[in-house]
Amino acid sequence: MEEYQQLAKGLSVGIIMDGNGRWAKQRGLPRTAGHKKGAEVFRDIVRYCNDLGMSSVTFYAFSTENWARPTEEVESIMRLFGNYLTMAYDYKKENNRLVFLGDRSRLSKSLQDKMNDLEEKTKNNTGMFLNIAVNYGGRQEILRAAQTLAQRVKDGQLEPQDITQELFEDCLYTRGQKDPDFILRPSGEMRLSNFMLWQASYSEFISMDVLWPDFRREDLDRALQEFQKRSRRFGGL
Ligand code: IPE
Ligand code: IPE
Ligand code: MG
Repeated sequence: MEEYQQLAKGLSVGIIMDGNGRWAKQRGLPRTAGHKKGAEVFRDIVRYCNDLGMSSVTFYAFSTENWARPTEEVESIMRLFGNYLTMAYDYKKENNRLVFLGDRSRLSKSLQDKMNDLEEKTKNNTGMFLNIAVNYGGRQEILRAAQTLAQRVKDGQLEPQDITQELFEDCLYTRGQKDPDFILRPSGEMRLSNFMLWQASYSEFISMDVLWPDFRREDLDRALQEFQKRSRRFGGL
């Protein structure tokens, strides 16, 4: 554990929780069973990230494109998310700052209330940022920032040439947080699927051949070891 705490301390990590459906299919179960198991794994990995001393972790739970799935599946994911939010109230103990990334206007009023409430209740915590991306899309996030800044220009508060990267980042859901050092995708896929498009510019990408419901603390350890081997140059030498 200590060895991994050293590797993980202060890191910012993005996790694309993928492979729930395939996990269920392998077992002849409905896809919703995969999401249920995936939610359990999520809770355990959150705790582990805390213990490792990470500065910020972002879990991709539902994309702006995932509405294309059957209503039943979408409803089941939203129900699991709602259950989690109810349980998350003991995050006070964990000292996490909860932040929800994504357009919440399409979510139910009761989910929105809980999300706002949890963000408010944890905003003065001093521990890890726990970001949960729900109805999140990197393009939507960037567009929204562009709209916010365009409005400021229109209102005469800002000149177009004064728009800097810093100002732009202030309009993203991850305002005030470090870009991910690495993005981890279980299930073997090698794509971002609209995840953190702005923030991922120099993130290391780590794809792992394990389905999310089978993902264990040891798999995160392996990812940390892999990350340590990478040579990050940020365009320099
Ligand atoms: C990830 O698992 C969960 C969500 C996208 C909500 P999937 O449901 O995408 O699982 P696969 O990719 O079909 O196996
Ligand atoms: C990405 O997974 C979204 C989440 C894990 C929440 P998908 O399963 O939706 O991505 P694609 O369709 O394989 O690209
Ligand atoms: Mg998938």
